[in-house]
Amino acid sequence: MHRTMHTVLVASNRGPVSFTPSADGGLTMRRGGGGLVSGLSQLGDDDPPLWICAALTDGDRGAARAAPGGRLDLAGHPTGPLRMLDIPPATFHRAYNDVANSTLWFVHHLLYDTPNTPSFGARFRREWESYQDYNAMFAAALAEEAAHGARVLVQDYHLTLTPAMLRALRPDLRVAHFSHTPWAPPEYFTLLPDDVACEVLAGILGADHAGFLTARWANAFMDCCEAVLGADVDRVARTVRHEGRTTRIGVHPLGVDGGALLARAGEPDVEARLHAIREAVGDRRLIVRVDRTEPSKNIVRGLLAYREFLHDHPEWHGRVVHLAFAYPSRHDLPEYREYTAAVMRCAKQIEDEYATEDWEPIILDVHDDYPRSLAAYRLADVLLVNPIRDGMNLVAKEGPILSPRCVLVLSREAGAAAELGPDAIMVNPYDVSGTAAALHEALAMPEDERLKRGRRLAAAATALPPRQWLAEQLAALA
Ligand code: F6P
Repeated sequence: MHRTMHTVLVASNRGPVSFTPSADGGLTMRRGGGGLVSGLSQLGDDDPPLWICAALTDGDRGAARAAPGGRLDLAGHPTGPLRMLDIPPATFHRAYNDVANSTLWFVHHLLYDTPNTPSFGARFRREWESYQDYNAMFAAALAEEAAHGARVLVQDYHLTLTPAMLRALRPDLRVAHFSHTPWAPPEYFTLLPDDVACEVLAGILGADHAGFLTARWANAFMDCCEAVLGADVDRVARTVRHEGRTTRIGVHPLGVDGGALLARAGEPDVEARLHAIREAVGDRRLIVRVDRTEPSKNIVRGLLAYREFLHDHPEWHGRVVHLAFAYPSRHDLPEYREYTAAVMRCAKQIEDEYATEDWEPIILDVHDDYPRSLAAYRLADVLLVNPIRDGMNLVAKEGPILSPRCVLVLSREAGAAAELGPDAIMVNPYDVSGTAAALHEALAMPEDERLKRGRRLAAAATALPPRQWLAEQLAALA
């Protein structure tokens, strides 16, 4: 049978949809979450690219096995054709959980601390082999599906080796890699064993174009190429030359499609949740945060800051509520389960210390409810975004679009700070007392100042919508 060869392809670990078994024995399809999926889900066009992703769950594996060659027909879905790779579960687990999420994620977000420092022994070597196999499976699938001279967009820290592997298989292709995370400085990146550090960098340099969300992360990558590989780096032209090839380095911040977000936030399910929140909170001021429960998001220090704020400012007792969304994430990893427990303990402590019969100072939502988070954005007086480090952080951009009078308290370590910094209240994410003071400043900000800043924040947040972000990367391969 004749098979379509694709001229534009995208590869990422998480795909635009995921499947869970439903009560009737079938499969229910859900939209995938996170910044990467938000950015890429605007792919649909006259000739939509083929998206290749991993089957992440048993439901996904069921869907992939039922579809010929893992190619799913998502009739009516805006992202276009999808191929899900049915990677052996043990290989997937070691590549995704052990290497990508426990090692590379921790390195780029500076998450190792004493006594929690890595040991790279025989066990890591097995995990690393699985990461190589997993990257090779993506490279093989891309090589199989791509038309001659096709453009391929490889995404993120899960797939750092794929560009070089793909180049070896198909030198005719034009390949881009995009990092959605921060990039570690050389002195931290070199925690990795030397051969692994070299392979990661050389893997990405297999691409023609390596994209980052901010100049800061792009510069850190170039610093690593120079320090680790001895590559020839031109920081002004933004090029890296290694083993006879040149890779261009691009900076492409990702913004939000404001129109689509406003339309979604006006739907009846959001309205219903908005009324429920209003009923629970009354006319009290609302401090909102929306995160995956993830150590890099720094939720515990955010809660400690709220606690300190309540201690320092008794005049706010009974007049403010902190609505904190902390959705489950990566629960296969013990660090994430422990972090979830720490978040819950901290919220309970605030509750025990300050709650009264008619005032609930904190509401912690640990279940994923996207429309409820949209309703919360709409009602927010203050949005707290305080990651230790973050590639971009789209929450910081979505909030101001949905609540023009909301004051943004933003970590200076979030990629979004480069664009939103001037109109947010900036905080050092480790400085709990500084964050507590920022919460007070935000709550006390006069209405005209809120609106002035809010309008500028919303304009900055929508300046580079996903469609344009994607078009820029494709253009970089033209
Ligand atoms: O690079 C960051 C990212 O891929 C984001 O898109 C998203 O926020 C997060 O990581 C998703 O992680 P996971 O796919 O492991 O849930």
